[in-house]
Amino acid sequence: MPNRINPSILAADFANFETELNRISTADLVHVDIMDNHFVPNLTFGLPMVQRLQEVSPIPLDVHLMIDDPDRWAPGYAEAGAFSVTFHAEAAADAVALARTLRGIGARAGIALKPGTAIEPYLELLPEFDQVLIMTVEPGFGGQSFMESTMPKLRTLSGAVEARGLDVWMQVDGGVTVDTIGIAAEAGANTFVAGSAVFRGDPAEQIALLRATADAHTHAH
Ligand code: DX5
Ligand code: ZN
Repeated sequence: MPNRINPSILAADFANFETELNRISTADLVHVDIMDNHFVPNLTFGLPMVQRLQEVSPIPLDVHLMIDDPDRWAPGYAEAGAFSVTFHAEAAADAVALARTLRGIGARAGIALKPGTAIEPYLELLPEFDQVLIMTVEPGFGGQSFMESTMPKLRTLSGAVEARGLDVWMQVDGGVTVDTIGIAAEAGANTFVAGSAVFRGDPAEQIALLRATADAHTHAH
């Protein structure tokens, strides 16, 4: 299965999103971080912005909701046409019902886990989700350092996905750079969010470099 590189526009120039989106057109999806200043201590943007990004983006949208009450708000992002909508396990009242709603609208359903949240309670529910996001930093801000302490959780997840023969994308988000992406690929990740690492330099070059590094560390199963 090919590795996916999803640049996070949290690290882009907020005054020039259309230009920035076109600079990452060789990526797989664009990662859009929605923060509500409640679930995380930071605020970004909401549904009207996503609706407009959806209209101008050359690649599909991977929406990451760091918000309270996703049961209420997440379906709107699926209706806006997001390719995938990922909500936090810690915030959802009924994760399975919400995932079913998102799939019913036509989006991929994703569940995200903060670094301190265990994966075990979710292993039985894996068929309900199209992707699982293992946060490799505390959610809220770009430019933080990759937490290697989350890798055992990723290995548990990838072991369960493989043992059950499931097609669940395993995503990492936070501190993913050319220096850390190989660690996550070794542990089983196949979908990589990178903000500062992509927009710091030439985005197309960084995307290619990240992809090649992930591929070099991917186990053949
Ligand atoms: C953090 C966000 C990330 C962030 C990653 O809460 O979910 O998507 O943009 O940024 P970097 O790659 O700079 O750590
Ligand atoms: Zn994110």
